[in-house]
Amino acid sequence: MQSLSFQLKHTCGQARAGTVTTRHGTIHTPIFMPVGTQATVKALSPRELDEAQAQIILGNTYHLYLRPGHELVKRFGGLHGFMNWPKPILTDSGGYQVFSLGSLRKITEEGVEFRSHIDGSRHFISPEKSLEIQQALGSDIMMVFDECPPSTADRGYIEKSLAMTLRWASRSRTAWTNRQQQALFGIIQGGLYPDLRLQSLSALVEMDFPGYAIGGLSVGEPPEKMYEVVEHIAPAMPADRPRYLMGVGTPVDLIQCIDRGVDMFDCVMPTRNARNGTLFTSTGKVNIKNARYAEDHEPLDSQCSCYTCRNFSRGYLRHLYQCGEILGLRLNTLHNIHYYLQLMAGARAAIADGTWNRWKNQQLDIYK
Ligand code: GUN
Ligand code: ZN
Repeated sequence: MQSLSFQLKHTCGQARAGTVTTRHGTIHTPIFMPVGTQATVKALSPRELDEAQAQIILGNTYHLYLRPGHELVKRFGGLHGFMNWPKPILTDSGGYQVFSLGSLRKITEEGVEFRSHIDGSRHFISPEKSLEIQQALGSDIMMVFDECPPSTADRGYIEKSLAMTLRWASRSRTAWTNRQQQALFGIIQGGLYPDLRLQSLSALVEMDFPGYAIGGLSVGEPPEKMYEVVEHIAPAMPADRPRYLMGVGTPVDLIQCIDRGVDMFDCVMPTRNARNGTLFTSTGKVNIKNARYAEDHEPLDSQCSCYTCRNFSRGYLRHLYQCGEILGLRLNTLHNIHYYLQLMAGARAAIADGTWNRWKNQQLDIYK
């Protein structure tokens, strides 16, 4: 058996609904993957994630390599056993995280030398090392080790970076030794240049990966620029493989990019925003810190069926936030994750029953 299979079930224009099957089960796309950087989706237990109907979560090579170490995680039965999450897991390669360290790193053809953000110790991650770590973690979907150039990089830099990232993709593929157990996705780079994006895609397709991701977006460019790149590249990606847009985004970004042919997303936005009091609801964004909610007896979102909205008032959530209470972080996170996952469920249903365009416009209206 192959480590991953994709079935396209419905389309509506470029929007797609399908299934991705891995060793730890099947996920329904379009899907949002909550981010669990350090073997935990911050503030939530696996039981709560399950109740929110999370289908797949994301872990990070960089963080888990530094702490507690991939060898240790492996001895606990990999990431699934260690954190007791039995469903699919995707791990990012560490490329993106290492590059956001700024002055703490040095890039060469061989790989990236960097200093730990925890204790300053020196480390080196290459495409081979990233695959070794991800194979020890035992994720269902691994990512190639890539460079994600800053949005300020000029064309010359992007060209050189892309060429090296393609050599790294090929090395990652060679280092991928357990093809029956874990899948590996290629990552398209090329900045905001349509020709470089296509060049990146065709070189990766030549290498033949079980799935393909679009990287290097949401790095500071305006949303319209990102939509343009996605609109250009997604329809050119193999129709019989999952398409993953990395590190994106807002509810509007997700809808706009599903509309352009993307199947999978991850972002810290729902969890991070929850912890600073920004909540997404069926009537738009709510900043629960606002004094206007002090005496608000209504639930956060009367349309939402999450534990938070079924049981607590806006006034209580504001109070918890003001006091810095842990329960506030937990209830807010529960709601935002539920909201994102319900949004994806709504998208899947609309694509399946042919009402995608109407549903999309209704959702976009909320955030106008
Ligand atoms: N997460 C968000 N963007 C990227 C990217 O370009 N590469 C990787 N590896 N992870 C990302
Ligand atoms: Zn809710």
